[in-house]
Amino acid sequence: MRSLLRTISRRDLLRQTAVAGLASAANFIPAVPAIAQKAKVKVGLLLPYSGTYAALGHNITDAMKLGLAEAGNKLGGRDFELVQLDSEADPAKAAANTNKLIVGEKVDFLSGPVHSGVAMAMAKIAREEGTLTIVSNAGANAVTREMCGANIFRTSFSNWQVCFPMGTEMARRGLKRVVSVTWNYAAGKEMIGAFREGFEKAGGSVVKEILIPFPNVEFQANLTEIAALKPDAVFAFFAGAGAVKFVKDYAESGVKAKIPLYGAGFLTDGTLPAQGAAAEGVFTTLHYADSLQLPANLRFRDAFKKATGRDADVYAVQGYDTAQLLIRAMEKVKGDTGATKELIRAMEEAKFDSPRGAWRYSKSHNPVQDVYLREVRNGDNAVVGVAEKEVSDPGTGCGMA
Ligand code: BEZ
Repeated sequence: MRSLLRTISRRDLLRQTAVAGLASAANFIPAVPAIAQKAKVKVGLLLPYSGTYAALGHNITDAMKLGLAEAGNKLGGRDFELVQLDSEADPAKAAANTNKLIVGEKVDFLSGPVHSGVAMAMAKIAREEGTLTIVSNAGANAVTREMCGANIFRTSFSNWQVCFPMGTEMARRGLKRVVSVTWNYAAGKEMIGAFREGFEKAGGSVVKEILIPFPNVEFQANLTEIAALKPDAVFAFFAGAGAVKFVKDYAESGVKAKIPLYGAGFLTDGTLPAQGAAAEGVFTTLHYADSLQLPANLRFRDAFKKATGRDADVYAVQGYDTAQLLIRAMEKVKGDTGATKELIRAMEEAKFDSPRGAWRYSKSHNPVQDVYLREVRNGDNAVVGVAEKEVSDPGTGCGMA
């Protein structure tokens, strides 16, 4: 297992040099308990609060706040501060933004992001710095594969995990020729890649993969191409405002009437009021569904609606579970953010009675969870069944797996 303690971070070196200087000057280092050094626990949130993914960032944040409020607004008995930074879902700004939180703000914990490209930069720095990090959405496979680390956890999914089962499902339905369409960045490419893997393994064939620059929402030319290719079905990944536009354009262009639309669940999650009738009948796979009749889901949806006036979605569930993970780990160490090994062990051992259903951690710190098959019916992501039970990302290339 790759050890967090193995890595001496840049910050540790700076800190040690500063302490050594003080010690030689005064020849005395006061024994101040780590907890007393910083009154408030700092949790850095690198999430999109503007742009196509803004609604996702807000739901993650508000559900975290809800979970923390339910726990008395304390972490291990200590007050805390959420330091929110707008990632703008921009990978080019991700390293600077991560450094602002880790080095500038000296956060104890880091959480976010939504965008897979941002996640790769964030996880690389967090690993080097040893900052305990909880990825609350981005599915970049590498985060819990070759870039995995003892201090990196994910409360969401891997891009592979939610899309591979749809490949199997669509082949089982007798579909033979499929076109996939997505944004041209890590998440889109990994999601259509995982779908293709499942679909081709089960005998189907992907006749074309259409990649559109992120976050473009001009789909007309692509829809014309899809209509000309006449596939049995389309598989798509878009999310947030882009998903709203794609699903509406797909219906309005007349393509939906001839070619059924399937996708990763983000296509219809948190978007249904804006998509309206255009989304009816769209099939997706995801690790959550609004209509799950689980006591934890019913209670959570009710509390989220009361707190925000909005309906919960998968992003809210991931934010809520991120708060639960922090709360439990900090309770275990009685608020001692310096007890890194114990915090990691507490997180690894956490089991969740989540709104999405029970889940646990794999060795590479990715959730092992059920993936549901959903269909949009009467404005709701109705659960058709479990596409695959207890799906575990293979964790390929992770030394801990
Ligand atoms: C991603 O970039 O990993 C992502 C963004 C939105 C929804 C799902 C995944």
